[in-house]
Amino acid sequence: MANNATLTYDGKSYDLPVITGTENESAIDISKLRGQSGLVTYDEGYKNTGATQSAITFLDGEKGILRYRGYNIEDLAEKATFTEVSYLLLYGELPTAEQLKKFESDLTMHTLVHENLVKVFEVFPSKSHPMGQLMTALSALSSFYPESLNPNNKPEETNMTIIRLLAKMPTITAMIMKKGKGHPVLYPQNKYDYVTNFLYMTFGNVTSEYMADPVVVDAMNKLLILHADHEQNCSASTVRIVGSSHANLYASVAAGAAALWGPRHGGANQEVLEMLEDIQNNYGGNVAKVVDEAKDKKRLLFGFGHRVYKNFDPRAKIIKVACDNILNKLGINDPLLEIAKELEQVALKDPYFAERKLYPNVDFYSGIIYKALGFPTPMFTVLFALGRMPGWVSQWKEMRERKEDIGRPRQIYTGATQRPFVGIKDRK
Ligand code: ACO
Repeated sequence: MANNATLTYDGKSYDLPVITGTENESAIDISKLRGQSGLVTYDEGYKNTGATQSAITFLDGEKGILRYRGYNIEDLAEKATFTEVSYLLLYGELPTAEQLKKFESDLTMHTLVHENLVKVFEVFPSKSHPMGQLMTALSALSSFYPESLNPNNKPEETNMTIIRLLAKMPTITAMIMKKGKGHPVLYPQNKYDYVTNFLYMTFGNVTSEYMADPVVVDAMNKLLILHADHEQNCSASTVRIVGSSHANLYASVAAGAAALWGPRHGGANQEVLEMLEDIQNNYGGNVAKVVDEAKDKKRLLFGFGHRVYKNFDPRAKIIKVACDNILNKLGINDPLLEIAKELEQVALKDPYFAERKLYPNVDFYSGIIYKALGFPTPMFTVLFALGRMPGWVSQWKEMRERKEDIGRPRQIYTGATQRPFVGIKDRK
């Protein structure tokens, strides 16, 4: 394959190197184009733009492949735990038994949050959205660890910040849930593993013993693994671009959480469940009518479509099977699952969706599982963030280790050209 491309413009030719990744994806390197030609490229929404070189996650949208550090998502979801996958994303290799023990013990030792952070949650109105609370808590962590603000920290100091953040994420998530219910917060217990501790703090109660159901622990591990990273998506790109200004890790992931909140990204999991409830309550279960409304651009089918997957989303396949299994094992018969399956069938048969290559994405079935496990709908996107945290942190770490330049796109200016200032009395 040629290792350069030629751009011809206005009678001049420019040689542009072509770089190729380990999975043979090729990209035209335009990093010197503006200096040589005065031209910039234009790509709204970055649909054709590679912003970095990354060794963390590979996905092939045509073939429906997703791999973390070379390992298939199907294998990881089936055979690994969330902490193993977090280690893999962060450090590049699956941990040995000894490495995992140390990593999990480090996480266990940093689960507590400062008591003043617990107080922050007291000031939120009862209807405040959990994602707003999460963003506040993440950025507030920087106040308790001012040393993390130093961009010249040594790798072991940065690693400490990473461990703290991952360790406190389940505590914060559970606290948001407890505060939402008006129940007392439960403190972490060192006897539990990462996921069980989270479930204990979330579903346990000061008044009774908590027994984690292995079905629920397994389901939670699977869901967190499936959400753990997804290369340069909207929130990960946000984390990288914010971090590229040398903003600290807490500030960078708080920005990532803001990006995730949007209904076209991670906020879609809440929207899906609300859409299914809407179909049940206001459409008498008539999915065809809702599909017609989507085709008429009156609404989006939430949980459908993806910027990169144009064949199927491998995470959605795994979640659909898991959803059936988990509801069966828990003995739950949720009519929303039947509505979701029918909606998927009707949409997939429709030429509108086929032509636009719109398939169910990770958010389509995840909410039904979260609901079965006992989470209220507004918590869904926070659960996505809990899973995505090791991905954001790994993306931030890689960006800093590569010493990437500050992210600063160009634009094509379309506003007024130079004009004289008009004093207020003379304006019409
Ligand atoms: N329902 C109905 N029509 C849709 C949907 C949908 N969910 N998604 C895309 N389309 C249509 C668009 O209207 C457009 O139609 P047109 O060609 O007639 O103009 C066409 O399909 C292409 O859509 P784009 O928005 O250009 O696709 P893009 O790749 O930019 O967007 C996105 C992908 C944002 C995920 C989009 O499909 C969407 O909004 N889906 C619903 C929200 C959702 O589920 N988001 C979660 C994504 S996964 C994640 O972030 C974790």
